[in-house]
Amino acid sequence: MRPILPAFVLLVTASIGVAQTTTATLTIDASHPAAPVSPMLYGIMSEEINHAWDGGLYGELVSNRTFQPPRRAGRPPQNWIVIENGNSEATLSVDTDSGPSKALAASLKLDVLSADAHSTAGFFNTGYWGIAIRPATTYRGSFYAKVADSYLGPITIRLVHNQTNAVAASTTVPALTSEWKQVHFTLKTGTVQPSANYRLEFLATHPGTAWFTLLSLFPPTWHEQPNGFRPDLMEKLEALHPKFLRFPGGNFLEGQHLPDHFDWKRTVGPLVDRPGHPTPWMYRSSDGMGLLEMLTWCEDLHMEPLLAIFSGYALDHTHINPGTDLAPYVQDALDEIEYITGDVSTHWGAERARDGHPAPFPLHYVEIGNEEYHDPSGTYDARFAQFYHAIKKDHPHLQIVASAPVTSAHPDLIDDNDHEAQRHFYRTAKQFFDDVHRYDTYDRNGTKILVGEWATREGTPTTNLGAALGDAAWMTGLERNSDIVAMASYAPLFVNVSPFAMQWEGDLIGFDALTSYGSPSYYAQVMFSNHLGDQILGSTLNTANPLLFESVTCDAKTGRIYLKLVNASSEPQSVDVKINGGGTIRAGMTITTLRGATTKDTNSITDPQHVVPIVSHKNTAKASFRHLVPQYAIQVLEIERKP
Ligand code: AHR
Repeated sequence: MRPILPAFVLLVTASIGVAQTTTATLTIDASHPAAPVSPMLYGIMSEEINHAWDGGLYGELVSNRTFQPPRRAGRPPQNWIVIENGNSEATLSVDTDSGPSKALAASLKLDVLSADAHSTAGFFNTGYWGIAIRPATTYRGSFYAKVADSYLGPITIRLVHNQTNAVAASTTVPALTSEWKQVHFTLKTGTVQPSANYRLEFLATHPGTAWFTLLSLFPPTWHEQPNGFRPDLMEKLEALHPKFLRFPGGNFLEGQHLPDHFDWKRTVGPLVDRPGHPTPWMYRSSDGMGLLEMLTWCEDLHMEPLLAIFSGYALDHTHINPGTDLAPYVQDALDEIEYITGDVSTHWGAERARDGHPAPFPLHYVEIGNEEYHDPSGTYDARFAQFYHAIKKDHPHLQIVASAPVTSAHPDLIDDNDHEAQRHFYRTAKQFFDDVHRYDTYDRNGTKILVGEWATREGTPTTNLGAALGDAAWMTGLERNSDIVAMASYAPLFVNVSPFAMQWEGDLIGFDALTSYGSPSYYAQVMFSNHLGDQILGSTLNTANPLLFESVTCDAKTGRIYLKLVNASSEPQSVDVKINGGGTIRAGMTITTLRGATTKDTNSITDPQHVVPIVSHKNTAKASFRHLVPQYAIQVLEIERKP
């Protein structure tokens, strides 16, 4: 008969879990490195999706700032609302025939029929799911405007609380002129509560007609750069220490239709000359985040650009024929490379200098197209060769990545994909567990691998602990094989978690207008990329637990060993670690642990720190020691060694 356990014993057992019955053994060969770790292994991938940039990383607070494309006649402009305070009367419409530039040929037309100092009239912008403000902060704004002959007077601009109508900041600009002119202003907040519940108002006190466009308001940006980035999101990326940025897409590069592809020339230069363009993700890109901004983003975070080049193929399966039809696109790519790397004596290098960045950017990697295995025409091979030869002729040092298998030329890297699913690696945790050994058998002399997009898609809007376990298991495989897997970038990076902002579930970093948070997958990435070392150590894991995974690397200079253990099972797992050769092990060991009670544990905008890494120290490291990995846990053991 089984003894009946007292209640308190049951409780304790439940909270610590029942250890796996058999202890695993992990033998590490520290006597010599098995191979070097790729110095470029962990990067990030980003594109305009989920309001990653507009309404996200790109600091602009005003949504639909240029009224592009103009909406059908009679339809009110999106995100702009007329204000008729007191007895005032006004109408708001989009004028498709008046704008300050060829690119911005439409504008917001305000007709004030009656207004005075007590009954003001105008319009407000709703922001991207609200305008976020903070106390004692300066906001810099601008707009283009002109008036008809009628007298409208000065314009007052205010940040106003949506519920209480409290004014957090206000300023007045002088009367507008009859020619299009850019007007600058600043708004300073005082003692206010941080909140995203604000709107941006523009008010007149006299009747008249005026046109406005490129209405803009920026909070303080990362390193105070003009037209810059949101600091909290940059800080999160900085903590990842990404080695490269793969951009600008993804599907965003390709476009739904050929004319909608990322046409880099229309994304550089003054904002007033950028028309924006439709994205495949159901909203239009302002292209305020253009090619130059992406390059400065790389510069800011010390990331190598991995530039994806439009290859003449769109998501609707249309393509440009290789040969003379494709030649202008190849020339665009060469121009793009010159814009990035040319000195100021070159045409496009001089253009970049005019845009504010005289120094060339480093560029070592370009990818031709995205997910070209979807192209039913079978023309990628020939299109790739045309780009490849033209680029290599002028820039032999550039590493060229093929986005699908090719035979016409020898790419330096291939962007690998899930061959069965015919797409990048968007998978369940189980699929990653089952494929952890994918690269173990790859030809060591074959083409180097870029894993250009990958993620465990479990949890929404951001991924949960179960996904982080899938990711971490997969990363152990990438690390152990990082002599052949040269680069890997998780995707998608960002999601705005506000209603209807998301197009793709299962993202790494979530945010709303005010705050942001990292998913458990984000913390798994932080742990892996910050504890990488530069040499792979051979290891042999013997275990009856199919959900236990490992990778071992070390730092050649310090001797420190990074042992990563992933236990995706529901029970703790003890592991006998044996380190053979390679010097003396010191007892002190730092352990970073990401764990939870269930795979569904997650972080959110309201509970951002539910699953975060915890750092602890133990004095138990020796050449042989026993270690207990908790259930549902990702661990990095930093073992000190005197080589
Ligand atoms: O990451 C989301 C999309 O998934 C990318 O745009 C595309 O390359 C992939 O299919």
